[in-house]
Amino acid sequence: MKVLFVCLGNICRSPMAEAIFKNMVAEKGLSRDIFVSSCGTAGYHIGKPPHDGTRDILKSHGISHDGMQASKLEKRHLKEYDALIAMDEANFADIMRLKDDSDTAWVRLLSDFSKGDWVSVPDPWYTGDFEQTYALLTESCEMLLKYIMEKSE
Ligand code: 4NP
Repeated sequence: MKVLFVCLGNICRSPMAEAIFKNMVAEKGLSRDIFVSSCGTAGYHIGKPPHDGTRDILKSHGISHDGMQASKLEKRHLKEYDALIAMDEANFADIMRLKDDSDTAWVRLLSDFSKGDWVSVPDPWYTGDFEQTYALLTESCEMLLKYIMEKSE
């Protein structure tokens, strides 16, 4: 199973989701079964590490961000990954524009896996609130992992 988290710049939200989800997968002993990565729909920050705020919040929760580098969404990802998880509605629309009938991945908004009434993960690039984003990502990633585990039973 291969999961790709997608945001705009791949320096704030999707790398945070990747690191949180990878950590949850490792804690369940599933690192060999579930591969996790992230990318952005825009190429502004290709090759850069996550934003300072994302690195700081991950570090404060004891979650590694070692070696993470921003990359851009490519058409081939829709065959290479099983699931693409969009952080917001614009990311979702951009993915769907790229997708055709031959592509095998399923595409969902991360908020589909939340009990909360939010739709888009707030972007700390604009809000400056990395803690709020961390909390929403943690809650929804737990539900996403539960969904994937139940689906693969
Ligand atoms: P992200 O946040 O999509 O969560 O990584 C952003 C990062 C950079 C920009 C916008 C959003 N930017 O305009 O450079």
